[in-house]
Amino acid sequence: MSSTPLRLGSVAPNFKAETTKGPIDFHEFIGDNWVVLFSHPEDYTPVCTTELGAFAKLEPEFTKRGVKLIGLSANTVDSHDGWIKDIDEVTGSKVAFPIIGDKERQVALAYDMIDHQDATNVDSKGIAFTIRSVFIIDPKKTIRLILSYPASTGRNTAEVLRVVDSLQTGDKHRITTPINWIPGDDVIVHPSVNNDLAKELFPEFRIVKPYLRFTPLPKEKATVA
Ligand code: BEZ
Repeated sequence: MSSTPLRLGSVAPNFKAETTKGPIDFHEFIGDNWVVLFSHPEDYTPVCTTELGAFAKLEPEFTKRGVKLIGLSANTVDSHDGWIKDIDEVTGSKVAFPIIGDKERQVALAYDMIDHQDATNVDSKGIAFTIRSVFIIDPKKTIRLILSYPASTGRNTAEVLRVVDSLQTGDKHRITTPINWIPGDDVIVHPSVNNDLAKELFPEFRIVKPYLRFTPLPKEKATVA
């Protein structure tokens, strides 16, 4: 696997791995879907338990958007299987997405998920576990978002979903999304769209500054059955 740092726009490295849902080839797993690949430090730990439960509860929203979830830590699949029972019991969720057993840290190394700064986030041999990484990968297998959270801080699943919404909306229309945007809010006309084209694409757009132009999203045309 490549040692070039992964950046936004990089092709997500392929790998084969064991998961709680059986062996996978990652690129085959992506298929024509979007994927959220996320790591947690260790099974049977408190913050991770709350996070996995929260991702499981929000999974139907990801599915609606054509997004598959897949977790990972440097623990075995057997360990994940036992821990999932606790997660479901404690959080009232049903973890149905696969979790990669990456005890040898093959995937964690390829995706630069290893913890380099928290000396307490280590296994019994003192080998570093993973941080809380998130990769959003599109159907072309391009990495579109990378987030890194420390072991001490649980993530915000709504934020991950919000970025999916922003990316998918931006891909469909020539727009960007402002600070704290959520679906339904006005969006920003992409700087590459001049005002003449903006008038065609977004009849209701308004100019606040020449470089800051807001618009509601065009209404979806109803499809005739
Ligand atoms: C946790 O999930 O609570 C956790 C895991 C590893 C290090 C620190 C916290």
